[in-house]
Amino acid sequence: MEKKEIETKEFCKRKKMEKIGVLTSGGDAPGMNAAIRAVTRAGIAHNLKIVGIRHGYQGMIEGDFIPMSARDVSGILHTGGTLLKTARSLAFKTEEGRERAFNNLKKEGIDAVVVIGGDGTFTGASVFTQEYDIPFVGIPGTIDNDLFGTDYTIGYDTAMNTVMEAADKIKDTANSHGRIFFIEVMGNKAGRLALNSGIAVGAEAILIPETNEQEKAMKNFLEKGYKEKDRSGLILVAEAGKPGRTIEIAKKVAQDYPYLEVRVSILGHIQRGGSPTAKDRIVATRMGVAAIDALLDDQQSIMIGLIKHNVIVHVPFSKAIQKEKEIDEDLLRILKVINI
Ligand code: F6P
Repeated sequence: MEKKEIETKEFCKRKKMEKIGVLTSGGDAPGMNAAIRAVTRAGIAHNLKIVGIRHGYQGMIEGDFIPMSARDVSGILHTGGTLLKTARSLAFKTEEGRERAFNNLKKEGIDAVVVIGGDGTFTGASVFTQEYDIPFVGIPGTIDNDLFGTDYTIGYDTAMNTVMEAADKIKDTANSHGRIFFIEVMGNKAGRLALNSGIAVGAEAILIPETNEQEKAMKNFLEKGYKEKDRSGLILVAEAGKPGRTIEIAKKVAQDYPYLEVRVSILGHIQRGGSPTAKDRIVATRMGVAAIDALLDDQQSIMIGLIKHNVIVHVPFSKAIQKEKEIDEDLLRILKVINI
């Protein structure tokens, strides 16, 4: 990928872009700290001042700002949660709240903001930037991976691995007792997290809101497959905007198939925590640097996305062994920016 070289100082002088705010909002996701670190260091590398806005949009409304140095973000790359804290701000949904937020940004001399979060965060950013003339760039950070325009959101891989580890453990006890376990997975209204982690654990059926064809798969399994498969099994259920819905589903199955021993496990917020996987750390770092690049490139009201990583292609053996695989130059550039 070719990146446009920016003469940072010239640009900042012209645009008067000197100070950038960064915040995390909505549900936390593993890798948010890696993104904060990358935004901070990439900004500093471009001679910008970075201000952390604590507690998401609520911190904008309350003027909860802290200066960020390159060293302030040391030692957080591998940690879950968010150093800047997060919130789902109701006040930001009101005009008065947004006006207070804008006045605070102006008072602090913040020229642009990087927001890290999910759809609620970008809905807020979209409304705000229509009302006020200030550039916002978004970094997708949510375990749900439910944002259009990007194949990937920060935190998704870690959450998938958390679900996988938990479900593997549940599988042990399901096997030992010969039970059917219904495991509820987060994801808000989307079934992506359940679907992908379900594939990773070999679930017998995966109930997601996007399709009801898996209900048939579940019925088949309960009526036939169950007997062949050691009389135990895992059914993954996406919360589908109704956390706890699995209890009802399992209850009905237990009534319809009285010979089954049914149990429910709702994984809950364990899916949001933990040390980010390598993938989440790398993507967060790339996106953090890209967000600063985008602001310096005069972009506003956009989200950084990552696409085409999932496309399956056919590569002849001859090419696979003969062609030298190039190192990702962009990653080398990012390394230089980050390691200040
Ligand atoms: O968006 C992330 C997410 O964890 C969803 O999967 C879930 O539905 C929701 O947040 C839970 O939100 P809260 O932590 O506010 O209960």
